[in-house]
Amino acid sequence: MSKYNIAVIKGDGIGPEIVNAAMDVLTKIGERYNHTFDFTQSICGGIAYDKYGEPLPQESLDICLASDSVLLGAVGGPQYDNLPYEKRPERALLGVRKAMGLYANLRPAKIFPALAGACPLKNPKNIDMLIVRELIGGIYFGEKGIRQGKLGREGYDVMAYSEMEVERIGRIAFELAQKRRGKVSSIDKANVLSTSGIWRKIIHDIHEDYPDVQLEDVLVDNAAMQIVRDPSQFDVIVTGNLFGDILSDLASQCVGSIGILPSASLGETTRGLYEPIHGSAPTIAGKNIANPIATILSAAMMLRYAFDLQEEGEAIEKAVEKTLNDGYRTADLQEEGLSVLGTKEITEVIINNI
Ligand code: IPM
Ligand code: MN
Repeated sequence: MSKYNIAVIKGDGIGPEIVNAAMDVLTKIGERYNHTFDFTQSICGGIAYDKYGEPLPQESLDICLASDSVLLGAVGGPQYDNLPYEKRPERALLGVRKAMGLYANLRPAKIFPALAGACPLKNPKNIDMLIVRELIGGIYFGEKGIRQGKLGREGYDVMAYSEMEVERIGRIAFELAQKRRGKVSSIDKANVLSTSGIWRKIIHDIHEDYPDVQLEDVLVDNAAMQIVRDPSQFDVIVTGNLFGDILSDLASQCVGSIGILPSASLGETTRGLYEPIHGSAPTIAGKNIANPIATILSAAMMLRYAFDLQEEGEAIEKAVEKTLNDGYRTADLQEEGLSVLGTKEITEVIINNI
């Protein structure tokens, strides 16, 4: 019998509802496979700002750093829009990612056959890509500010990538491609940006160590077009922080809904952060209509990547798949003739399928 300490950041908006769902699923896995998952709540995001005037209090960060892994819902809300950046809920998320050294954000977008009808594309078959997004560098973490320019006040954000940062994310992408279909698409804007020049050079240098992997460079504008034209051409996509943020929302819609895309953020250790790729969806918060599947599948990724519990992770994925095959949907995936369930109710169905 094994015991795992999981730090839980419920966050804002729909965060508490979807994280409760994932915790219930993990508890069921614990009963079924004889593991104990101990959850310690860490208050981060808008709720922490409201309570302590800080989106990421030191105590909350310490809980994450002391855990075996972190499960996160979402942070943010319109009431925080006018706060300075260092006080905004999103700072908590960026701060946890950075403090834990989680440079590799894995965002798998794979179509469930049952959701083919929810895909807005003509050929929804064979969509199975893994977006590997660099997570603690690039324009998100460069120098930023507002200064007096020639034309008045101007905002600026510096985008920089070092060779080391590109190399470590590139190696993750090549290694993952070796376990999949053996193709890496490196996405940049090398026709304009000097960060992309370095990016492309380093990716090609390290590619020499992975001769069994096919590498292609795709400019980010073309990549957006190609993902919609024919997403099945992509296996592993590797890209920087900002492009990865944008392209993963795009990819999520190709597989039905942003409500089903999980993610794992990894660094040097097995300990990571597991969260859905979507946001806090404040307009539907507290209504029991949010889709918990992205968070539940993030919990499955935690079992696989952080704890090496492959069978248990698969049990969650299979239970989600069966729920969809049986025709159960949340509101975001509504289709004629299928039953729409609330957050709690679909979670119960998933749990009963484990
Ligand atoms: C995501 C989110 C975050 C990001 C926000 C909330 C800061 O959009 O995880 O994709 O941009 O990384
Ligand atoms: Mn995003």
